[in-house]
Amino acid sequence: MILAVCLNPAVDVTYVVDAVRPGASHKVSTVHRRPGGKGVNVARVLAQLGEPVTLCGFAGGATGRWLRSALADSALADSALAGSALADSALAGSARAGSAPADSATVDSATAGSARAVSAPAGSGVIDRLTEVEADTRQTVTVVDDADASVFNEPGPTLTDRDWARFTETYDELLKDCEVAVMSGSVPPGAPADAYAFLVRRAQHHKIATVVDAADAQLQSAIDAGPTILAPNRAEIGLPGAGPAELLAAASRLSRRTGGTVVISAGSDGLVASDGLRSWTARPPRHVTGNPTGAGDALTAALARGLARHLPRPTALADALALAAAAVAAPVAGQIDEPLYRELTASSTVQEVAPCP
Ligand SMILES: Nc1ncnc2c1ncn2[C@@H]1O[C@H](COP(=O)(O)OP(=O)(O)OP(=O)(O)O)[C@@H](O)[C@H]1O
Ligand SMILES: [Mg+2]
Repeated sequence: MILAVCLNPAVDVTYVVDAVRPGASHKVSTVHRRPGGKGVNVARVLAQLGEPVTLCGFAGGATGRWLRSALADSALADSALAGSALADSALAGSARAGSAPADSATVDSATAGSARAVSAPAGSGVIDRLTEVEADTRQTVTVVDDADASVFNEPGPTLTDRDWARFTETYDELLKDCEVAVMSGSVPPGAPADAYAFLVRRAQHHKIATVVDAADAQLQSAIDAGPTILAPNRAEIGLPGAGPAELLAAASRLSRRTGGTVVISAGSDGLVASDGLRSWTARPPRHVTGNPTGAGDALTAALARGLARHLPRPTALADALALAAAAVAAPVAGQIDEPLYRELTASSTVQEVAPCP
């Protein structure tokens, strides 16, 4: 089993409008809601691949109940694949849009439903072991018009010390049964400043491999603890426009600090990776047009699956490239285009390059 950690899941709300005009009142033509947050996206991709996956983190309030019922409701999970033509085309035309649409009619019926019991096999295929908290799970709001998408991210529920203690008990228990722990995304207010270092060290204590996709202070915290694989994008390490040579040097420097493998993703330019001894570069097997939001989450999911299967690094990286490209072709984050994934795995390769001095 792969354990996906999402400390700050979200209900992703998308408003579709004709045109965004700052300061004006807008008529929203369509509202979409779907479970979101990077760790949720990772878990959903793994579930779509048929990989046993358990989700832990926090969920609270009405939004948390909705998130859990949506994860547990197959009808909603299936309808989310469809989206709406209007919103899909708007999202496809906008760079880096937030997570996109589910079918609104089905979403409404799921909103009315109550949360399923913890541990119930989920309709999405994700086993729910989220820790219930009093404060509301956050929403993200993406406002989409024909030209662009604007994303508003709430900070998330303020956790109490008791919330964190209850979560860590669950996390420790789940670590005993998993092969890999993969953790992604932001942390809610009230979580420890070194949350990711703590999570990595607990996993190390249980001899469980880890994959971390984090930013800012939590990225630094994870580096200190030394995850098996660290997978930031190039902007998250402060090199938004860097090319392969600069990124390779950064990956190799970082891997010396973590003692593990570092994979730096670079959008449609592909990725670089280093384990300190060997280094690789890779370009996507094909440039895919679509919604790139969540491509990094698919990449992270594939890296976790590669660890669970003990794949050699180059094999896992090639698989991750195909899966990430197939995520771009799917209209919403947390999903992949399966036929495209199967097609691209045949042509996905990585090149080993000389290590950086
Ligand atoms: N247009 C594309 N066509 C094919 N593959 C792509 C494309 N865009 C991204 N990818 C693949 O997806 C991987 C991850 O993309 P990116 O670097 O944008 O991740 P990210 O910024 O972490 O994304 P997110 O945080 O939204 O999940 C890249 O390394 C690349 O292999
Ligand atoms: Mg990312």
